Amino acid sequence: MGKIVRASPEKRQSKFSTLRDKSFILNETTPFFIKEEYKTLRTNVMFSIPSEGCKVIGVSSAQSMEGKSINCLNLAIAFAQTDARVLLMDCDLRLPRQSSLMGLDAIPGVSNILVGMNKYTEAIKKTELYGLDVILSGDIPPNPSELLASDNMDKLINQLKQHYDYIFIDLPPINLVADTSIVSKFMSGLILVVRASSTKRESIVKAISQLELTGANVIGIVLNGVQVKSRITGKYGKYSKYGDYGNYGT
Ligand SMILES: Nc1ncnc2c1ncn2[C@@H]1O[C@H](COP(=O)(O)OP(=O)(O)O)[C@@H](O)[C@H]1O
Ligand SMILES: [Mg+2]
Repeated sequence: MGKIVRASPEKRQSKFSTLRDKSFILNETTPFFIKEEYKTLRTNVMFSIPSEGCKVIGVSSAQSMEGKSINCLNLAIAFAQTDARVLLMDCDLRLPRQSSLMGLDAIPGVSNILVGMNKYTEAIKKTELYGLDVILSGDIPPNPSELLASDNMDKLINQLKQHYDYIFIDLPPINLVADTSIVSKFMSGLILVVRASSTKRESIVKAISQLELTGANVIGIVLNGVQVKSRITGKYGKYSKYGDYGNYGT
């Protein structure tokens, strides 16, 4: 199945941006309107997929840096705040972000399970985020697409489905690599993140055509980074440190 190269994904992220990103994670101090947006998104997702058994929900976008990872984590947290058993899997094996966001060691993780180095039970980490469990990316593999397409991935998802009500999968960009298309066969639904004032129309069209080709069930679009107008100052983006972090699920 190919060798795994030990590398630290966190090194690619500066300390400053990691600290800033952590401030975006849903918590008690998150402004009310943002919490409400995620609750609305949660409700919309719940109603968009069949209610039987474990639901596997992928989060992807056309390009990188559009907010897939942070929205995948916040959505998983929003579901964990209910009584549901929730797991987040970081399947962006090329540029994994969940490990640095959560401050947890990425290893052992998805890649290690897929090459047979570890059992899935050894890779599940309990977080302090409302009982959310995670399986992080693991070591950076040389062949992510091959691993994600393997029978071991099929086996892993089926094993995990026995233990969880919802599995959220953080994925790489659709227009850059085939991984999201490959994983789409395991998903009950896929959420497409679009970054306001940044994602190009043609880029979204290309991503959606690609998803249609693979038969992915796109259940909604999250418009990330909407400028929010303050009710106090009347200005945009000055509402709070989250001023540029509105999310609107459709
Ligand atoms: N709405 C937003 N407002 C401000 N910064 C954002 C927003 N969404 C994402 N970012 C920033 O963009 C960067 C990429 O986010 P990330 O979730 O890792 O994107 P992706 O997984 O699509 O590559 C991070 O530094 C994150 O803090
Ligand atoms: Mg990401």
